[in-house]
Amino acid sequence: MASQSAASIDNVMHESRVFPPPAEFSAAARVKSLDEYQALWDRAAADPLAFWADLAREELHWFEPFTETLQWNEPFAKWFVGGKTNAAYNCLDKHVAEGRGDRTAILWEGEPGDTRTLTYAELLSEVCKFANVLKSVGVGVGDVVSIYMPMTPELAVAMLACARIGAIHSVIFAGFSAEAIADRNNDAKAKVQLTADGAWRRGKALPLKETVDEALAKSHTVETCIALKRIGEPVAMQDGRDHWWHELMEAASDDCPATPLDSETTLFILYTSGSTGKPKGIRHTTAGYNLYAKKTFQWVFDHRDDDVYWCTADCGWITGHSYLVYGPLAAGAACVMYEGAPNFPAEDRFWDIVEKYKVTTFYTAPTAIRAFIKWGDEHVEKHDLSSLRLLGTVGEGINPAAWLWYHEKIGGGRCPIVDTWWQTETGGIMMSPLPGAIPTKPGSCTKPLPGIMPKIVDPMGDEVGENQGGWLTISHPWPGMLRGIWGDDQRYEEVYWSKTPGMYLAGDNARRDEDGYYWIMGRIDDVLNVSGHRLSTIEIESALVSHPKVAEAAAVGRPDELKGEAVAVFVSLAAGVEATDELRDELKQHVRHEIGALAQPDDIRFTAALPKTRSGKIMRRLLKDIAAGKETVGDTTTLEDYTVLAKLRSDDA
Ligand code: PRX
Repeated sequence: MASQSAASIDNVMHESRVFPPPAEFSAAARVKSLDEYQALWDRAAADPLAFWADLAREELHWFEPFTETLQWNEPFAKWFVGGKTNAAYNCLDKHVAEGRGDRTAILWEGEPGDTRTLTYAELLSEVCKFANVLKSVGVGVGDVVSIYMPMTPELAVAMLACARIGAIHSVIFAGFSAEAIADRNNDAKAKVQLTADGAWRRGKALPLKETVDEALAKSHTVETCIALKRIGEPVAMQDGRDHWWHELMEAASDDCPATPLDSETTLFILYTSGSTGKPKGIRHTTAGYNLYAKKTFQWVFDHRDDDVYWCTADCGWITGHSYLVYGPLAAGAACVMYEGAPNFPAEDRFWDIVEKYKVTTFYTAPTAIRAFIKWGDEHVEKHDLSSLRLLGTVGEGINPAAWLWYHEKIGGGRCPIVDTWWQTETGGIMMSPLPGAIPTKPGSCTKPLPGIMPKIVDPMGDEVGENQGGWLTISHPWPGMLRGIWGDDQRYEEVYWSKTPGMYLAGDNARRDEDGYYWIMGRIDDVLNVSGHRLSTIEIESALVSHPKVAEAAAVGRPDELKGEAVAVFVSLAAGVEATDELRDELKQHVRHEIGALAQPDDIRFTAALPKTRSGKIMRRLLKDIAAGKETVGDTTTLEDYTVLAKLRSDDA
């Protein structure tokens, strides 16, 4: 367990306050009491297939009904077999057909302050046009479309246009490097690349098209690139390959009926880090994912027709997929979408947006909350936040101090907080308070959603006792679960199903307390959580050793007040290379170039040798302690010899 997690467990262990849902909130909520929640959960647990089948019939539009709810050939699941549906239809056409086309779908605000509003009917028309554009460049069912775009409405349009015609989107967060894009494009065999001339970030234009050009030089399967004009800077356009979004859209018709697709048609792949150097393309499919995103959105955010919902996540992450696009749109919600940084032009930008759009439901990450605390309450106090009725968090555990600040300062003490635990792999929220029903305890994601059956086990697969830490598993398939890793069934079986047969292994440690509340205790593998984003230590190490001056490298997480975990690396240099500050900067830039800014190490320490066990394994625990400052070693350019420390340690032992 990471030392950071140990510290947060210490914290949460001492946190015993319980916050019942406000009576007024419960009275109007979808699920109004703990008893009601328990009855719903029990009903789902007694017959999960009937439970999900009923919901699928009620919530989704079926071109053809399904004939079998679940085909479970562990670890491969097929949900709603024989049925035909379409995720874009469920998110758009269904509302228009039911007379809700004039309702607001997206309230968009660009970083420079430009705004756009799209109703469901307008969004549908844009999606149809872009689906026709995709068809015109040869995209059909099963083709992979790689998306590297700023947070503009067109990003959502692109995703839904793929869904409409059965193409598979692979959204790559616009902070990743050209190398990272090329790796993902080649793994996915992407046929088309969507991008923009640039993106606004803290007032500066990021050159997305330039990065894409570098990536496409190495992406051997991409035939066509379509670029949105966002910032208006001149960019290179390659004849025959590159097209402008607006030019293709001008010629496109908005008549494009949704293709009826088999339930198990791949909807998207989304790359995430695992414990090896190669990112995993997590594969989600049409019907099960769409149902799960919609239903969990309604339960957890207690969605009402008059809500204005804002999820601050980027569509480059699973949170943006499930809770900015597929969940809320399927539920017919009005969604705020913001393009830029939370501190541009000033640290009150988010609160300005909440006030302006009268946001009722606000979903963000603990790392952002810690930044708001640091920036000071005066930025919050400038704004009227009385429209808010519900707050949420995702991505990492929230420390009780941040939880209490969020509750008081943002929620005015009246808004329940939903701390939502889930993963790219789970497709949607797995554990979270239902805000009108479940009393919250700061730092706990509380209880599983209906239909979700977690079990905490030891490495033998046996369930552990109350308040004992163990591996978090899920013991029954659910519709939103990943269907595999793109092109690698073996890794899928190995990572998630081989250590705990019959159960999905989440990769997190957790404990369950005397009230049946779950507390997440950090990862069991070498995955770091930096600002709520997953990074593999091995990916960072591979990036470093690809530099000619590096002989060996070890990356570990160290606690960081803002990011949760920061990346600390220990590097031993090739023979004759001198350790200098310049080299340290060069290596940081190198990791940025190989992976992206989010993986740039915070600390680089040079060492003559890495501490290893007799069998040659790097002693990561020791390095974690050193990185966390438990050993007093200065962060200077001098070469340290940590093997000496390792020897002292083993002498002690
Ligand atoms: O370790 C858990 C942590 O984030 C991991 C999943 O990361 P990712 O797939 O990038 O998805 C993030 C957004 C869903 C988990 O294995 N995590 C996520 N939410 C929480 C959390 N840890 C504690 N509490 C949470 N609410």
